[in-house]
Amino acid sequence: MFKVNDNYQKLPGSYLFSTIAKKVNTYSTANPDKSIIRLGIGDVTQPIAPSIIAAMHNAVDEMGNAATFRGYAPDLGYEFLRSAIAKNDYAARCCDISADEIFVSDGAKSDSGNIQEIFSVDNKIAVCDPVYPVYVDSNVMAGRTGTYDPKTEMWSDVIYMPCTMENNFVPEFPKETPDIIYLCLPNNPTGTTITKSQLQEWVDYANKNGAVIIYDAAYEAYISEDDVAHSIYECEGAKTCAIELRSFSKNAGFTGVRLGFTVVPKELKCGDVSLHAMWARRHGTKFNGAPYIVQRAGEAVYSDAGKAELKQQVAYYMNNAKTIKEGLKDAGYTVFGGVNAPYIWLKTPDQMTSWEFFDYLLENANVVGTPGSGFGPSGEGYFRLTAFGSYENTVAALERIKKL
Ligand code: MLT
Repeated sequence: MFKVNDNYQKLPGSYLFSTIAKKVNTYSTANPDKSIIRLGIGDVTQPIAPSIIAAMHNAVDEMGNAATFRGYAPDLGYEFLRSAIAKNDYAARCCDISADEIFVSDGAKSDSGNIQEIFSVDNKIAVCDPVYPVYVDSNVMAGRTGTYDPKTEMWSDVIYMPCTMENNFVPEFPKETPDIIYLCLPNNPTGTTITKSQLQEWVDYANKNGAVIIYDAAYEAYISEDDVAHSIYECEGAKTCAIELRSFSKNAGFTGVRLGFTVVPKELKCGDVSLHAMWARRHGTKFNGAPYIVQRAGEAVYSDAGKAELKQQVAYYMNNAKTIKEGLKDAGYTVFGGVNAPYIWLKTPDQMTSWEFFDYLLENANVVGTPGSGFGPSGEGYFRLTAFGSYENTVAALERIKKL
């Protein structure tokens, strides 16, 4: 008789955003007359920028012509895209990352779930709490997290680094030394971040302790402050301790197009073993490359026109962030984030739990957000709103919230 991967049985409930979608569907089926504004999942709403659309059309035409048709993409990504990334995301910021250290993928969610595969099951992970659920859940599936305590909502073998208003949402070095440290900066879900010199301390800590940092920089395009690093490789010594995950979803509106990349520097080694070689082996075996049309779209992100259009798109969403933040403050809420990231993190009012506030907001304002506790126990009593809605919906949602 076959056996299943028992680790999957340990996962509590369903994926956070699936649970929310189910709850909202139940509510809207029971209340078909209500117009619901969704500021829950961080999904973009604005159309893909014109120069990117033009690049995709062009690539589609190429696929319909025998002379320019492409089959399987190179498994690590087309050279034209890897070079554009190396030049614009790294060389332009004085980071010494070469094109062949970049692995193109179908998005940062897959990479952040898959990257743990190249590490031993004995490794201990450390995560910020609250945290993007994929990091923990993918380690649960791999059998790296021990047992789950439903009371504390914690795993016995995970090191949690609480990020709350008490420590200004800055993770502290844990008492127990981790092997793998997940950092998402600017942060999802809190929308806060740390300075470049604080990040440098993490790089030094990882190098000193033989730990690896999995650095999720999906929201780097939203950074507005000068002392915040766009890439971990802006820090000295990061190439010997850090893997960086990047996404086109939020900076270029590709949530439905799918494109991302991971940087694994050649200097990153465990003894003599190269993590770059391992990830190349994994990618080559399990992935057949992001589509040509999508990689051409990615290349257009770095064109002059693409850059200008995307600057405007990011500004549009950040204007929403400001609207939410100021609107909530006016209404008496305590709010965080929204300056270097498109998420607003608020304290729930009247001691409500995160899920109580979710229900309250859904039923009384018909606005959907994300309960902070869904991201981890230290998220209890907090709530996340995304700036990725349309401006009109953002304004309307705030009007409704202010009336509560
Ligand atoms: C979020 O809402 O946290 C993100 O959009 C989810 C994701 O990027 O997978």
